[in-house]
Amino acid sequence: MHVVLVGMMSSGKTTVGRRLAGRLDRPFLDADDVLQERLGCTITEVFEEHGEPWFREREAELLDELLAPVEPIVLASGGGVVLLERNRARLRRDDVAVVWLQATPEFLASRAERKAHRPLLAAAGGATVDLFRELDRVRAPLYAEVADVTVDIRPFHLTHGKPKAALAEFVAHELRELAARRAEVAP
Ligand code: S3P
Repeated sequence: MHVVLVGMMSSGKTTVGRRLAGRLDRPFLDADDVLQERLGCTITEVFEEHGEPWFREREAELLDELLAPVEPIVLASGGGVVLLERNRARLRRDDVAVVWLQATPEFLASRAERKAHRPLLAAAGGATVDLFRELDRVRAPLYAEVADVTVDIRPFHLTHGKPKAALAEFVAHELRELAARRAEVAP
């Protein structure tokens, strides 16, 4: 079963995903990194040169491609992957466990301020709470639609010295439970 991390920018998909892959002893891939490497430019440049719809098409093709092999991977998706119904349908299939790293817009905005490399944040003039509220309004129902496991990340950041390691451990535990539930349904 592949594991795909979904959630907004700054929810920690890449760091948690990499640690999770280490725990599960399987390959880790970050969809944005793969795209940047293949296209030979940054996501910001892709948005500038080709526009967001073109990026979304490449993102969808890549999702299909990376999840096609049976060998299970951990994949950190881009925050907007759920926008296309085609991607949500792929994520709902049984060969994928989707983990939503969830947080409030306020919490995400406070974390994203330090990172200016994202085109959507640059276009909005920074990581404003309003932008995150708007993205959350549209996307939260879409993340919820595909998620098999939902984790509120805030308590981990408030109570753990190493929140991402603790999150990876917790997600691994939740995935074991999910696998057991799925095995009961379809032995
Ligand atoms: C986006 C999130 C980014 C990247 C692109 C668009 C989004 O990925 O795919 O800038 O629409 O939320 P991260 O969630 O990894 O930052």
